[in-house]
Amino acid sequence: MLAGLAGGGVLAARGESAIRAMQWMAPGADPARVLGSSPTECLRRPADPLVAHRVEVGRAAFRTPLVLGGQAGRAGISCETCHRAGRSNPDFLFPGISGAPGTADVTSSLFSTHRDNGIDDPKPIPDLSGPKSALKVSQARGDRKLEPFLDGLITQEFDGPEPSPAVLDGLAAYVRALDPAACPAAPRQPLGVSMLMDDVRRALRAGQAEIARGDPATARVMIAAARTRLGLIDERFDTPALAASRRALRAADRELADAQAGLRAGRPDVSASLAAWLRRSRPLEARLVGQSPRSLFDPARLAQAAKRRLPG
Ligand code: HEC
Repeated sequence: MLAGLAGGGVLAARGESAIRAMQWMAPGADPARVLGSSPTECLRRPADPLVAHRVEVGRAAFRTPLVLGGQAGRAGISCETCHRAGRSNPDFLFPGISGAPGTADVTSSLFSTHRDNGIDDPKPIPDLSGPKSALKVSQARGDRKLEPFLDGLITQEFDGPEPSPAVLDGLAAYVRALDPAACPAAPRQPLGVSMLMDDVRRALRAGQAEIARGDPATARVMIAAARTRLGLIDERFDTPALAASRRALRAADRELADAQAGLRAGRPDVSASLAAWLRRSRPLEARLVGQSPRSLFDPARLAQAAKRRLPG
Protein backbone atom coordinates (compact mmCIF):
# COMPACT_ATOMS: atom_id res chain seq x y z
CA MET A 1 0.00 0.00 0.00
CA LEU A 2 1.34 3.42 -0.90
CA ALA A 3 1.89 5.76 2.03
CA GLY A 4 -0.32 8.37 0.42
CA LEU A 5 -3.22 5.95 0.19
CA ALA A 6 -3.16 4.48 3.67
CA GLY A 7 -6.10 4.56 6.03
CA GLY A 8 -9.63 5.93 5.85
CA GLY A 9 -9.99 7.72 9.20
CA VAL A 10 -12.44 10.56 9.42
CA LEU A 11 -13.11 10.46 5.70
CA ALA A 12 -14.38 6.92 5.58
CA ALA A 13 -17.96 8.10 6.01
CA ARG A 14 -17.72 10.13 2.82
CA GLY A 15 -17.03 7.08 0.69
CA GLU A 16 -14.23 6.28 -1.69
CA SER A 17 -13.11 8.67 -4.36
CA ALA A 18 -10.92 8.09 -7.36
CA ILE A 19 -8.77 10.98 -6.18
CA ARG A 20 -8.47 11.56 -2.49
CA ALA A 21 -8.45 15.34 -2.78
CA MET A 22 -12.03 15.12 -4.12
CA GLN A 23 -13.03 14.46 -0.53
CA TRP A 24 -12.09 17.94 0.61
CA MET A 25 -13.14 19.80 -2.51
CA ALA A 26 -16.05 22.20 -1.99
CA PRO A 27 -19.22 21.25 -3.90
CA GLY A 28 -19.56 23.39 -6.98
CA ALA A 29 -15.79 23.83 -7.32
CA ASP A 30 -14.50 23.09 -10.82
CA PRO A 31 -12.60 19.76 -10.69
CA ALA A 32 -10.57 20.59 -13.79
CA ARG A 33 -9.18 23.65 -12.04
CA VAL A 34 -8.94 22.30 -8.48
CA LEU A 35 -7.57 18.84 -9.31
CA GLY A 36 -6.18 19.40 -12.79
CA SER A 37 -4.00 22.32 -11.85
CA SER A 38 -2.08 23.67 -8.90
CA PRO A 39 -1.30 27.18 -7.75
CA THR A 40 2.29 28.10 -8.57
CA GLU A 41 4.73 28.35 -5.71
CA CYS A 42 6.24 31.67 -4.60
CA LEU A 43 9.50 30.27 -3.29
CA ARG A 44 12.67 32.31 -2.96
CA ARG A 45 15.70 30.01 -3.27
CA PRO A 46 18.20 31.11 -0.62
CA ALA A 47 21.78 31.63 -1.84
CA ASP A 48 23.31 29.98 1.24
CA PRO A 49 23.41 26.23 0.40
CA LEU A 50 22.75 25.24 4.00
CA VAL A 51 19.61 27.39 4.20
CA ALA A 52 18.60 26.19 0.73
CA HIS A 53 18.85 22.61 2.01
CA ARG A 54 16.69 23.43 5.06
CA VAL A 55 14.08 24.92 2.76
CA GLU A 56 14.06 21.71 0.72
CA VAL A 57 13.58 19.62 3.88
CA GLY A 58 10.69 21.88 4.90
CA ARG A 59 9.19 21.87 1.43
CA ALA A 60 9.02 18.08 1.45
CA ALA A 61 7.76 17.89 5.05
CA PHE A 62 5.06 20.45 4.18
CA ARG A 63 3.74 17.94 1.64
CA THR A 64 3.73 14.88 3.94
CA PRO A 65 0.66 13.74 5.93
CA LEU A 66 3.04 11.81 8.19
CA VAL A 67 4.22 15.11 9.66
CA LEU A 68 0.71 15.96 10.90
CA GLY A 69 0.03 12.43 12.09
CA GLY A 70 -3.23 11.86 13.96
CA GLN A 71 -6.60 11.91 12.22
CA ALA A 72 -5.54 14.50 9.65
CA GLY A 73 -2.47 12.51 8.65
CA ARG A 74 -4.47 9.30 8.33
CA ALA A 75 -6.95 11.12 6.13
CA GLY A 76 -4.07 12.10 3.83
CA ILE A 77 -4.02 15.75 4.85
CA SER A 78 -0.73 17.63 4.90
CA CYS A 79 0.13 21.31 5.38
CA GLU A 80 -0.09 21.60 1.62
CA THR A 81 -3.71 20.38 1.53
CA CYS A 82 -4.77 23.65 3.15
CA HIS A 83 -1.92 25.89 2.05
CA ARG A 84 -1.72 24.72 -1.56
CA ALA A 85 1.78 25.33 -2.92
CA GLY A 86 2.20 27.48 0.20
CA ARG A 87 -0.78 29.65 -0.64
CA SER A 88 -4.37 29.32 0.57
CA ASN A 89 -7.10 26.97 -0.63
CA PRO A 90 -10.44 28.66 -1.41
CA ASP A 91 -11.85 25.27 -2.50
CA PHE A 92 -11.13 23.44 0.76
CA LEU A 93 -14.21 22.10 2.50
CA PHE A 94 -13.97 19.45 5.18
CA PRO A 95 -17.11 18.67 7.19
CA GLY A 96 -16.61 19.37 10.86
CA ILE A 97 -13.49 21.45 10.16
CA SER A 98 -14.58 24.06 7.66
CA GLY A 99 -17.30 26.68 7.81
CA ALA A 100 -17.40 28.38 4.42
CA PRO A 101 -15.15 26.93 1.69
CA GLY A 102 -11.55 28.02 2.23
CA THR A 103 -11.80 28.05 6.02
CA ALA A 104 -10.67 25.60 8.68
CA ASP A 105 -10.90 25.41 12.43
CA VAL A 106 -7.43 24.28 13.42
CA THR A 107 -8.52 23.99 17.05
CA SER A 108 -11.19 21.44 16.17
CA SER A 109 -11.48 18.30 18.26
CA LEU A 110 -11.72 16.24 15.08
CA PHE A 111 -7.99 16.66 14.58
CA SER A 112 -6.89 17.13 18.15
CA THR A 113 -7.43 15.77 21.62
CA HIS A 114 -5.44 18.65 23.10
CA ARG A 115 -6.64 21.93 21.81
CA ASP A 116 -10.39 21.65 21.37
CA ASN A 117 -11.65 24.99 22.55
CA GLY A 118 -15.24 23.77 22.49
CA ILE A 119 -16.32 26.42 20.01
CA ASP A 120 -16.62 26.21 16.31
CA ASP A 121 -14.49 28.98 14.89
CA PRO A 122 -13.24 28.23 11.39
CA LYS A 123 -10.84 30.87 10.06
CA PRO A 124 -9.85 31.64 6.48
CA ILE A 125 -6.77 29.63 5.46
CA PRO A 126 -4.08 32.29 5.10
CA ASP A 127 -1.88 32.61 2.02
CA LEU A 128 1.58 31.96 3.47
CA SER A 129 3.21 33.55 0.45
CA GLY A 130 1.29 36.78 0.83
CA PRO A 131 2.92 39.86 2.37
CA LYS A 132 4.47 38.91 5.72
CA SER A 133 2.89 42.01 7.26
CA ALA A 134 -0.56 40.51 6.62
CA LEU A 135 0.27 37.41 8.70
CA LYS A 136 -0.29 37.08 12.44
CA VAL A 137 2.75 35.10 13.54
CA SER A 138 6.02 36.98 13.28
CA GLN A 139 8.55 35.27 11.03
CA ALA A 140 11.46 37.42 12.21
CA ARG A 141 14.11 34.99 13.39
CA GLY A 142 14.94 37.07 16.46
CA ASP A 143 11.32 36.94 17.69
CA ARG A 144 11.46 33.14 18.04
CA LYS A 145 7.74 32.92 17.34
CA LEU A 146 7.45 30.80 14.21
CA GLU A 147 9.12 27.56 15.37
CA PRO A 148 7.07 27.26 18.61
CA PHE A 149 3.93 28.13 16.65
CA LEU A 150 4.58 25.34 14.13
CA ASP A 151 5.54 22.88 16.85
CA GLY A 152 2.24 23.62 18.63
CA LEU A 153 0.30 23.38 15.39
CA ILE A 154 1.68 19.90 14.73
CA THR A 155 1.70 18.37 18.21
CA GLN A 156 -1.26 20.16 19.81
CA GLU A 157 -3.70 21.08 17.07
CA PHE A 158 -3.11 18.09 14.83
CA ASP A 159 -2.05 15.57 17.51
CA GLY A 160 1.03 14.76 15.45
CA PRO A 161 4.29 13.28 16.73
CA GLU A 162 7.02 15.70 17.86
CA PRO A 163 8.84 16.60 14.63
CA SER A 164 12.61 16.10 14.49
CA PRO A 165 14.53 19.37 15.04
CA ALA A 166 15.56 19.32 11.35
CA VAL A 167 11.94 18.95 10.19
CA LEU A 168 10.76 21.79 12.42
CA ASP A 169 13.66 23.97 11.30
CA GLY A 170 12.94 23.08 7.71
CA LEU A 171 9.25 23.94 7.94
CA ALA A 172 10.13 27.33 9.42
CA ALA A 173 12.78 27.93 6.73
CA TYR A 174 10.28 26.98 4.03
CA VAL A 175 7.56 29.28 5.39
CA ARG A 176 10.11 32.12 5.62
CA ALA A 177 11.23 31.51 2.03
CA LEU A 178 7.68 31.91 0.71
CA ASP A 179 7.73 35.40 -0.66
CA PRO A 180 5.26 37.42 -2.73
CA ALA A 181 8.20 38.82 -4.72
CA ALA A 182 9.03 35.26 -5.87
CA CYS A 183 5.61 34.50 -7.39
CA PRO A 184 5.80 33.27 -11.01
CA ALA A 185 3.83 35.28 -13.55
CA ALA A 186 1.14 32.61 -13.95
CA PRO A 187 -0.92 32.01 -10.79
CA ARG A 188 -1.57 28.34 -11.68
CA GLN A 189 0.10 25.51 -13.57
CA PRO A 190 -1.20 22.19 -14.89
CA LEU A 191 -0.83 19.38 -12.38
CA GLY A 192 1.02 16.64 -14.19
CA VAL A 193 3.31 13.64 -13.75
CA SER A 194 6.50 15.66 -14.21
CA MET A 195 5.62 18.22 -11.56
CA LEU A 196 4.99 15.43 -9.03
CA MET A 197 8.09 13.45 -10.04
CA ASP A 198 10.12 16.59 -9.62
CA ASP A 199 8.81 16.85 -6.04
CA VAL A 200 9.69 13.18 -5.51
CA ARG A 201 13.28 13.76 -6.61
CA ARG A 202 13.67 16.94 -4.55
CA ALA A 203 12.47 15.11 -1.44
CA LEU A 204 14.84 12.19 -2.05
CA ARG A 205 17.81 14.49 -2.62
CA ALA A 206 16.99 16.24 0.67
CA GLY A 207 16.84 12.74 2.21
CA GLN A 208 20.29 11.86 0.85
CA ALA A 209 21.69 15.04 2.37
CA GLU A 210 20.13 14.15 5.73
CA ILE A 211 21.69 10.68 5.56
CA ALA A 212 25.04 12.36 4.92
CA ARG A 213 24.43 14.62 7.93
CA GLY A 214 23.73 11.58 10.09
CA ASP A 215 20.00 12.22 10.62
CA PRO A 216 18.21 9.05 9.44
CA ALA A 217 14.94 10.02 11.18
CA THR A 218 14.61 13.15 9.05
CA ALA A 219 15.74 11.20 5.97
CA ARG A 220 12.86 8.78 6.58
CA VAL A 221 10.40 11.68 6.58
CA MET A 222 11.89 12.83 3.27
CA ILE A 223 11.36 9.37 1.78
CA ALA A 224 7.81 9.40 3.12
CA ALA A 225 7.29 12.72 1.33
CA ALA A 226 8.54 11.17 -1.91
CA ARG A 227 6.18 8.23 -1.46
CA THR A 228 3.23 10.55 -0.85
CA ARG A 229 3.88 12.30 -4.15
CA LEU A 230 4.19 8.92 -5.93
CA GLY A 231 0.83 8.04 -4.39
CA LEU A 232 -0.74 11.06 -6.08
CA ILE A 233 0.44 9.69 -9.42
CA ASP A 234 -0.69 6.16 -8.56
CA GLU A 235 -4.27 7.15 -7.78
CA ARG A 236 -4.61 8.73 -11.22
CA PHE A 237 -3.38 5.57 -12.91
CA ASP A 238 -6.13 3.46 -11.35
CA THR A 239 -7.53 1.89 -14.52
CA PRO A 240 -7.07 -1.64 -15.97
CA ALA A 241 -5.55 -0.29 -19.19
CA LEU A 242 -2.67 1.17 -17.19
CA ALA A 243 -2.11 -1.82 -14.93
CA ALA A 244 1.46 -2.45 -16.13
CA SER A 245 2.56 1.12 -15.39
CA ARG A 246 0.87 0.95 -12.05
CA ARG A 247 2.85 -2.19 -11.23
CA ALA A 248 6.04 -0.34 -12.13
CA LEU A 249 5.03 2.56 -9.89
CA ARG A 250 4.29 0.24 -7.01
CA ALA A 251 7.58 -1.57 -7.45
CA ALA A 252 9.32 1.81 -7.28
CA ASP A 253 7.36 2.62 -4.13
CA ARG A 254 8.34 -0.69 -2.54
CA GLU A 255 12.00 0.17 -3.12
CA LEU A 256 11.48 3.39 -1.21
CA ALA A 257 9.72 1.52 1.59
CA ASP A 258 12.73 -0.76 1.67
CA ALA A 259 15.03 2.26 1.90
CA GLN A 260 13.03 3.49 4.91
CA ALA A 261 13.39 0.08 6.52
CA GLY A 262 17.11 0.15 5.70
CA LEU A 263 17.50 3.46 7.53
CA ARG A 264 15.68 2.08 10.53
CA ALA A 265 17.99 -0.93 10.53
CA GLY A 266 21.09 1.23 10.08
CA ARG A 267 22.00 -0.30 6.72
CA PRO A 268 24.89 1.60 5.10
CA ASP A 269 23.77 1.16 1.47
CA VAL A 270 20.62 3.31 1.55
CA SER A 271 22.14 6.43 0.02
CA ALA A 272 23.49 4.41 -2.92
CA SER A 273 20.11 2.78 -3.52
CA LEU A 274 18.43 6.20 -3.47
CA ALA A 275 20.96 7.39 -6.07
CA ALA A 276 20.10 4.39 -8.26
CA TRP A 277 16.40 5.05 -7.72
CA LEU A 278 16.85 8.68 -8.79
CA ARG A 279 18.53 7.58 -12.03
CA ARG A 280 15.75 5.11 -12.81
CA SER A 281 13.10 7.75 -12.09
CA ARG A 282 13.79 9.41 -15.47
CA PRO A 283 12.72 6.48 -17.68
CA LEU A 284 9.83 5.75 -15.29
CA GLU A 285 8.70 9.35 -15.61
CA ALA A 286 8.94 9.25 -19.42
CA ARG A 287 6.78 6.13 -19.49
CA LEU A 288 4.17 7.66 -17.18
CA VAL A 289 4.11 10.94 -19.08
CA GLY A 290 3.54 8.98 -22.29
CA GLN A 291 0.54 7.26 -20.78
CA SER A 292 -0.91 10.16 -18.85
CA PRO A 293 -3.47 11.02 -21.59
CA ARG A 294 -5.11 7.68 -20.66
CA SER A 295 -5.03 8.46 -16.93
CA LEU A 296 -6.86 10.89 -14.66
CA PHE A 297 -4.20 13.45 -15.49
CA ASP A 298 -6.28 13.95 -18.63
CA PRO A 299 -8.75 16.81 -18.00
CA ALA A 300 -11.70 15.11 -19.73
CA ARG A 301 -11.23 11.84 -17.85
CA LEU A 302 -10.79 13.80 -14.64
CA ALA A 303 -14.06 15.67 -15.18
CA GLN A 304 -15.83 12.37 -15.83
CA ALA A 305 -14.45 10.77 -12.67
CA ALA A 306 -15.48 13.82 -10.65
CA LYS A 307 -19.01 13.64 -12.05
CA ARG A 308 -19.30 10.00 -11.06
CA ARG A 309 -18.10 10.90 -7.60
CA LEU A 310 -20.18 14.06 -7.16
CA PRO A 311 -23.49 13.51 -8.95
CA GLY A 312 -25.37 16.69 -9.79
C1 HEC B 1 -6.84 21.99 7.94
C2 HEC B 1 -6.16 23.08 7.25
C3 HEC B 1 -4.75 23.46 7.67
C4 HEC B 1 -3.65 22.64 7.72
C5 HEC B 1 -3.58 21.16 7.45
C6 HEC B 1 -2.54 23.49 8.10
N1 HEC B 1 -2.95 24.76 8.25
FE1 HEC B 1 -1.77 26.36 8.62
N2 HEC B 1 -3.41 27.47 8.98
C7 HEC B 1 -4.72 27.10 8.71
C8 HEC B 1 -5.62 28.15 9.15
C9 HEC B 1 -7.14 28.17 9.03
C10 HEC B 1 -4.81 29.15 9.72
C11 HEC B 1 -5.27 30.48 10.35
C12 HEC B 1 -5.57 30.30 11.82
C13 HEC B 1 -6.00 31.57 12.48
O1 HEC B 1 -6.15 32.60 11.80
O2 HEC B 1 -6.19 31.52 13.69
C14 HEC B 1 -3.42 28.69 9.58
C15 HEC B 1 -2.30 29.44 9.99
C16 HEC B 1 -1.00 29.08 9.69
C17 HEC B 1 0.16 29.94 9.92
C18 HEC B 1 0.13 31.32 10.54
C19 HEC B 1 -0.18 32.36 9.50
C20 HEC B 1 -0.15 33.76 10.14
O3 HEC B 1 -1.16 34.45 10.02
O4 HEC B 1 0.91 34.12 10.67
C21 HEC B 1 1.26 29.26 9.48
C22 HEC B 1 2.71 29.75 9.48
C23 HEC B 1 0.80 27.97 9.03
N3 HEC B 1 -0.57 27.91 9.16
C24 HEC B 1 1.62 26.95 8.56
C25 HEC B 1 1.18 25.63 8.46
C26 HEC B 1 2.06 24.47 8.40
C27 HEC B 1 3.58 24.51 8.35
C28 HEC B 1 1.25 23.38 8.38
C29 HEC B 1 1.67 21.92 8.43
C30 HEC B 1 2.50 21.55 9.58
C31 HEC B 1 -0.13 23.85 8.38
N4 HEC B 1 -0.12 25.20 8.46
C32 HEC B 1 -1.24 23.01 8.28
C33 HEC B 1 -5.11 25.92 8.12
C34 HEC B 1 -4.31 24.80 8.02
